[in-house]
Amino acid sequence: MTDPTSTTTSIDAALEQHLDTTQAARLESYQAFLRIPSISALPEHAHDVRAAAEWLADALRTAGVGHVEVAETGGHPVVYGDWLHADGAPTVLIYGHYDVQPVDPLDLWTSPPFEPVIEGDRMLARGAADDKGQVHAHVMAAAALSATRGAFPVNVKYVFEGEEESSSVNLAAWLETNRDRLAADAAIISDTGFFEGNLPAITVSLRGLLYTQIDVIGSPVDLHSGGYGGAVQNPANALAQIIAALKGPDGRIRIPGFYDEVVALTDEERAALDALPFDEAAYQASIPVTALVGEAGFSTLERRATRPTLDVNGIWGGFQGTGAKTIIPAHAHAKVSCRLVADQDPDVIFERLRAFVQEIAPPGVTVAVQFLGGGRASLTPLDHPITQAGARALEAVFGRPPVFIREGGSIPVTASFASVLGLPVVLLGFTQPHENAHAPDEWMSLANYEGAIRAIVRTLDEIAALPR
Ligand code: BES
Ligand code: MN
Ligand code: MN
Repeated sequence: MTDPTSTTTSIDAALEQHLDTTQAARLESYQAFLRIPSISALPEHAHDVRAAAEWLADALRTAGVGHVEVAETGGHPVVYGDWLHADGAPTVLIYGHYDVQPVDPLDLWTSPPFEPVIEGDRMLARGAADDKGQVHAHVMAAAALSATRGAFPVNVKYVFEGEEESSSVNLAAWLETNRDRLAADAAIISDTGFFEGNLPAITVSLRGLLYTQIDVIGSPVDLHSGGYGGAVQNPANALAQIIAALKGPDGRIRIPGFYDEVVALTDEERAALDALPFDEAAYQASIPVTALVGEAGFSTLERRATRPTLDVNGIWGGFQGTGAKTIIPAHAHAKVSCRLVADQDPDVIFERLRAFVQEIAPPGVTVAVQFLGGGRASLTPLDHPITQAGARALEAVFGRPPVFIREGGSIPVTASFASVLGLPVVLLGFTQPHENAHAPDEWMSLANYEGAIRAIVRTLDEIAALPR
């Protein structure tokens, strides 16, 4: 084994050579995984999600992870695997998700989302980055360790989830039920990425999420807008009124009590954010939009990761075809979600949102607010030895020390690992910004994918070398 504190080689020579000679097979395996359309949100893909779980379980077995099972959760299964023969060494829980987002609009994809293609440095497919590429990197790291050393430097427990993209509705209960066998010293979650400019990064905070649907119901059927317009409430107008009242032009959310539990950044935290090499013009140009807007009094970096938000994710109702149809629609609907920050509780915020919507609902329609999911924000410790082990590994493999960043996205399990299992978590992710996660033409940088495998091995070596 190489000296884990050395920075001249990132991993040992035998392992590097193994990775060099197996690259073609590895990319084929990565593509085979991507071909399975494991969209957790769509019931018609449930059998594909299970097929992806079985595929992944087989891949873990082939990689030398002795004990592997496809575990039932009541929803999509968890793929669980462990290798526990590093006597006296720490135990690391490794998390990723093998489910993916839906692919619509399909016509905006350059090539079909589940027919992965390699273009230069890019693997192009749904899930290439979020999160199958990172899960696959963990499996390949395990395979490389087994092939070259016949052992792992630490005890490992893999938890690969199949419904992260559907709010992880069954995972917390599954963690509770399996608390004993999931006992570990720390967790690594690989479902985040590098900073703007592909700077190696460790994420130290994620936002939480509340997801709701607002349903506005009028008459049981559409009405002629000539015969009834002016005499009845229009559900679509009513919905627009409600949505308009939720947020002011200053970007402040108007739900009473919404900000009560928000923990403001300390001066030190704000300074750390300001010190990141963030090129706002390049960020805007990469999207591209005509202007960056948000809550008054906060920078773009603060707005997108440290402040709560409220956004309409979708809105529908009434006539959607070409031409004109003169009706008062029977009903109208919107998906409304909030990104939350510490210490906002999704259940509490839901109740405040629901009560406010009822209060402002105009007469003549029935308004309901449904809870569709949620998760808490998370803050992971910067100075924990496992974070520092990950940081040393990133520096050794990618040639520069990582920056510590805050992300606006959500990974519900992060807070659950802390609250249910009591584990310190390091968010060690490898995607590049702008890899079109959740969008058409999702891709992953193959350089980052290859680096991820080496950095994962190196992180496990670094953890093994920590003083106990
Ligand atoms: N990998 C993302 C989370 C993420 C996004 C991390 C951006 C870092 C930066 C994850 O797969 C995701 O998309 N999560 C959902 C959670 C939701 C469905 C509960 C999200 O953030 O919308
Ligand atoms: Mn993800
Ligand atoms: Mn995602």
